[in-house]
Amino acid sequence: MSNIEVNANTARYARAIAASKRIRWDIDEDVIRGRTLDVGDDYLPDGLSLVDSLPFLSARERRFMSQVQGRTYANVFGLVERYINAKMLDLSRDYRFGDQVALEALVRFSDEELKHQELFRRVEALAASAMPPGYAEMAEPNAVAQFVLGKSTWSVLALTCHIEIFTQVHYKKSIEPATALSPLWKDVFLHHWQEESQHAIIDELEWRREDAKLTAAERDAAVDDLIELVTGVDGILQAQARADAEYFIGVAERKFSAGEASAVHDAVLKAYRWQYIVSGVQDGKFLGILASMVTQPQLERISDALAPLM
Ligand SMILES: [Fe+2]
Ligand SMILES: [Fe+2]
Repeated sequence: MSNIEVNANTARYARAIAASKRIRWDIDEDVIRGRTLDVGDDYLPDGLSLVDSLPFLSARERRFMSQVQGRTYANVFGLVERYINAKMLDLSRDYRFGDQVALEALVRFSDEELKHQELFRRVEALAASAMPPGYAEMAEPNAVAQFVLGKSTWSVLALTCHIEIFTQVHYKKSIEPATALSPLWKDVFLHHWQEESQHAIIDELEWRREDAKLTAAERDAAVDDLIELVTGVDGILQAQARADAEYFIGVAERKFSAGEASAVHDAVLKAYRWQYIVSGVQDGKFLGILASMVTQPQLERISDALAPLM
């Protein structure tokens, strides 16, 4: 890497620090503000929950579906932020005696992800006290982190960049325009999105820095790792969709027919794949970065692996 490129990147890390300082918020003072969750509100907008694909649900059931999926949304972020933070701390070692601006950007990133995990734990506790018992989280953050961090850095950064880009897409396209959303939930999403904007920039910088270190053979292996990571994410989504559909049907005040029950399960899985895989892939930004690093056959390998999930 030339000196000019190093300087250009330092300026980008500096901008991420400036944005981080400007936006910085506090969980209690700025986000929760002593509020609890109201059972009369939606927790996740229809554009993400895809509840319209279940026309046989009553208005109350639709709302409960958005609450179940909203709770899972908070938990999935809490889950992935465990590994994301661990990876950022690992990467920050490269800067300890080097670029101190980049080091600060990564340390702030890590600090923010720790705060986000705390925020999502608080939201989970609020959701648990507003909703009937029986909800279950199907993946454990440290076990998922062990699996993810066992893969190559390139693939871990690709997955992370994808996650932090779709966070932006979800907020701008579905959450910000939603009108019936719980005010507390909307504040959670707003504040999270604001800090995630810098993360997406840092992810790309770190992903490109890693990409520049790889040989063609290493990158080819990293593409396989990325496919394994996405398959792993889908495994978690399948388990969570099954658990959430069973919880939804189990606490309902009426009996669903076998056909309706299987439609609920299919719709929840489709919604989770939409939220955590498809919406980010469809947005051009992630694919643009990916395509600038890999060959056409590698890109096709990734699309073929994704095809059954789309
Ligand atoms: Fe976050
Ligand atoms: Fe983040």
